[in-house]
Parts: sequence; structure tokens; C-alpha cells
Amino acid sequence: MSKKRKFTSYSLFVSCIAAIGGILFGYNTSVISGVLLFITKDFQLSTIEQELIVSTLLIGALIGALAGGVIADHFGRKKTLFFTLLLFFIGIFTLTMASGFNAFLIGRFISGLAIGIVSMAAPLYIAEMSPPENRGALVSLNQLCITIGILLAYIVTYSFAAKSDWRDMFAFAFIPVVLQFLGLFFIAETPSWLISHGKPEAANQILHKIRVAHVHEHLVHEKKEEDAPTKKQFKALFSPSVRMPFLIGIGVAVFQSITGINTVIYYAPQIFQLAGYETAQTALFATILVGAINVVVTVISLWLIDRVGRRPLLVAGLIGMAFSLFILGISFLSKSEASGLTAVFALLIYVGFFAVSLGPVAWLIISEVYPLGIRGRAMGIATFSNWLCNYFVSLTFLTLIQVLGTAGTFWLYAIICFLGLWFVIKLVPETKGKTLEEIQSFWKKP
Ligand code: BGC
Repeated sequence: MSKKRKFTSYSLFVSCIAAIGGILFGYNTSVISGVLLFITKDFQLSTIEQELIVSTLLIGALIGALAGGVIADHFGRKKTLFFTLLLFFIGIFTLTMASGFNAFLIGRFISGLAIGIVSMAAPLYIAEMSPPENRGALVSLNQLCITIGILLAYIVTYSFAAKSDWRDMFAFAFIPVVLQFLGLFFIAETPSWLISHGKPEAANQILHKIRVAHVHEHLVHEKKEEDAPTKKQFKALFSPSVRMPFLIGIGVAVFQSITGINTVIYYAPQIFQLAGYETAQTALFATILVGAINVVVTVISLWLIDRVGRRPLLVAGLIGMAFSLFILGISFLSKSEASGLTAVFALLIYVGFFAVSLGPVAWLIISEVYPLGIRGRAMGIATFSNWLCNYFVSLTFLTLIQVLGTAGTFWLYAIICFLGLWFVIKLVPETKGKTLEEIQSFWKKP
């Protein structure tokens, strides 16, 4: 029987509210590069102090990702989103009012906690509120919001730079906070979580709102899953039926990061300067271009993801990323004007291939592959692996350039793309159009 394309405005509405968390994720991670220049001057920060301010957010995100899974499984997805928003508010407030180094550290750490939690809680919430035919696009709304947040941060820091107004740069994030706060009162808890906490009636009502078909089927499967004896133990993560999705989730989360995207997102101006665009003005303009391509291509990915499927996007994306990284490396071998231009194009193409594939698909896969009983905690661990690799990649990038050279560094990421390709072809199943329960049953096959 062919599945009809069903799209409820309710699913779209709740997904948009949850995805505002993505704007906060993208904005708060990226705004620091612009702010740092000004606070370093105002507060006479040493290099070590600057590094600590930058990296504390990543430490917070690591802890938040792990804690978020446990919180989401225990208290529910909706309460987790409320709690995260409160953390965002406190973090942004502390940063906006900061009067010295310690306040920056505290504000960045709390914002990091919130980002770690929201990076798993938002896709988790949306996946559980979406009909299978549109789950790819709806979950990827979160990635779209991340890219919009990053672009907004680039634009805001660029526009506020003339006034050196770093407090306003931080404070801008209150806008999405208020929007999401108002929206959260109108969204429901997910049916999956309600069923796993013995509330099938309430779950059934929400299921009717988000997809009239499959209701009964959904309830029966989810209930069976919940009856499994291992449901609430971390040990369950290593049981044979969970090992495979666990490995796949961690794998895609890790490859999303170790293929180098954040070297571009965090260091774009420096890369453009290395490529010969020495004035800060041009480098900043090119950075905004990176942010814009990231947004535009993510929109295309949203359109493709439920049509062509996850695997073809990952395969094409990884090949394209490897190819553009290879060209990027070559362009750094000579110092001509043409090679500078090639570097800029190669970088934009690389970001485009990421945005159509690993960007949205990694978060989507980790929100789909896990059985209900452990979904939150398993997503937390995959998200933790992603942040850990982000930390490692951003910490080692400049050193790698010194050791391997700029070309060698980008070629290294190109090789890692091929490893990612091998991983995807070998292990990642196609989940397009399947219910979360059908995906669960993949792993039960002998
Ligand atoms: C990644 C981030 C990255 C962003 C770029 C996200 O999916 O998790 O690390 O900065 O995409 O768009």
C-alpha cells in the first residue's frame, strides 16, 4: 500500500517551536568570535582567559548533552525544553550583564549546558511528534534554525561592531528566548514519552493530532518496547539489539564533526586571510557568504530528505565534501589571485555539501535509530560524542596547520570524509518513510 503524504499543521507548529532552540544553539556558539575582540580590549583579557571563555561553552555542552538525555527520559521532552530555555535565559543574562572574567566564564558555561541539552532535546522532540513521511524535513527544521542562528550571529556582530556594542550582541539572543517561551505553552508532550510513562490515553490524543493513521499500531509497538526488562538501565545501551543503532548514532555524530565543518564555521575569517584576503572587511564578507550558503542549501536539503532518502544524501554529500577539501588543499599550494578565488569557491562548495548531507542528516539519524526505552540517553551519548569531537577539532586545527601545512590539514579531513563514506555505505540503514517502530524492528532481525 502506498503511503499518503500526510502533513499536519500541528506537527509543523510544534516542530517550529522546538526548533527555535536551534537558533539559540547556532547564535550562542558563533557570537563569541565577534564579541571576543571587544571584551578582550574592555577587560584586558589575557590569551589564556580568552581561550577559557571560548572553550567553557564546549565543556558545558558536553555535560549538557549527557545530562539532557537522562532529563528527557525522566521528566519528559517538553519539560526538558522548558528547563533548557531557563538555562539559556540565565546564561544570556549573565553574559549581557558581565562585569569581568568570572562572569563571562559562568555565563558561557551555563549557555553551554543549555546548548548541549537542546542539541539533543529539540530533534528528539520533533522526531517523536512527526508523521514518518515528513519526519526528515521536520527534524531538519532544527538544523535550519542552527544555520540561521549562525548567520544571524555573523550579521549581528558585523553590524554592531562599529559601536563596539558587545552587550547588545549577547542580548540579541533574548528575542528567540521570548519567542520560544511563548510557544512552549502551546505544545504537548510527545506520545512516545507518554506511553513509556503509562499514559496511553493522553498519547492517543496527540497521535490523532499528528497522524491519524498508524495510531493503534504505534501504541502496540511502543508498549511492547516499554515492557522490555532492560528499559531504564545504562547497561541496556550495550545489549545486542541496541549495540548496532548505538554504534551508528555515535558514528554519524562523530563523522559530522571530524570531517572538519567547524574549522570553517569557527575560523572562516582566518582561512580567508590565509587564502590571501587580508583585509578584515573582505574576510568578514566572505564569512557572511559561508553562513548564507549554509542556510540556503539546508533549505534544499529539507526538500530532498524525505524524497531521495538519508543514505543518498550522505553518500553524495561526503563525496562532494572530500572533493572540495581536496581542491581547497591544492589552492593553498600557490599564492596567485586565482588560487585565492579557488579557495573561496572550494570552501563554499564544501559548506554546501555539508549542509545538504551530514548537517541535517546526522541529527536526524540519531533521533530515529534508537529504541524508545533508551532514546533520550542514547541520543545524549551520541550528542556528547559530537561535542567532544568539536572540542578536539577546534583545539587542534591551528596546530595541524603548523604541523601538516594548510593543504595537508584539509587533505586529512578529505581522507576522513572517505572513512565516513565507508561507514555510511556499510552500516547506516535507509529510514525514509518508516515509522520509528519499524526502524526499531530493524535491529531485532536475526
Ligand atoms: C553541527 C555544528 C555545526 C553546524 C553548522 C550542526 O549540525 O552540529 O557543529 O557548527 O551544523 O551548520
